[in-house]
Amino acid sequence: MRKPILAGNWKMNKTRDEIIHFSLFVTNRIPDSVECIVCAPYIYLRDLVKRSPDHLHVGAQNMHEKDFGAYTGEISPLMLKDTGVEYVILGHSERREYFNETDEKINLKIKKALELDLKPILCVGEKLDVREAGKTNELLESQITKDFEGVVIDDPKNIIIAYEPIWAIGTGKSADADTAEAACGFIRKVLEKIYSKDISEQIRILYGGSVSLSNIEELMKKPDIDGGLVGGASLEPESFVQLCQKAI
Ligand code: 13P
Repeated sequence: MRKPILAGNWKMNKTRDEIIHFSLFVTNRIPDSVECIVCAPYIYLRDLVKRSPDHLHVGAQNMHEKDFGAYTGEISPLMLKDTGVEYVILGHSERREYFNETDEKINLKIKKALELDLKPILCVGEKLDVREAGKTNELLESQITKDFEGVVIDDPKNIIIAYEPIWAIGTGKSADADTAEAACGFIRKVLEKIYSKDISEQIRILYGGSVSLSNIEELMKKPDIDGGLVGGASLEPESFVQLCQKAI
């Protein structure tokens, strides 16, 4: 009932030539049955939207929560709309860690994205010390509750959440499928508590953190995992295509 998603987060990688090569390569190779998304650096978004086939969806990696203003170096959500992107990653752990993004700020960004019909991909997840202290669920509940405070969900299909344990990001040590499933299932329960069973069952929940060609199928077998948010393994077009083909 929930369409699977394979989303690449390119972070601060790739040149324009590489992006052109990527979109040419993936055309006619990615499956229709999976929502295939690439989240690129701002400066390439417009190019990517123009060059990509219809079924390759494009997203940004962040945005400011205000329409305009004296925020040197920031990108407005209206500017994102101008590029034609459909999605925006919000609250990635690298934004939380290196750019001091708080749940309060992320909450404002989610509201603004929905107001402008941008589909948020909200990232949540714990550091290793939190997991070792047995406080993963507590943290996930706190993040989800604060990030969705006062957020009205009209169409749950337009909301995506990515469970990304920080200890698994870029380390090559993915959470095993059972651990990832437990966290994604818990997130769905929290959504049910805040909204309703019907809404929680329509929201897509992804796993992210060292997703690769060797673990994507196992992850996708789990009922509460609806797809992957992939960093490193999404950079090469061949690997991205294979991930999308396996994410069915
Ligand atoms: P890796 O797939 O490189 O671990 O990155 C995950 C991530 O942060 C995606 O947003």
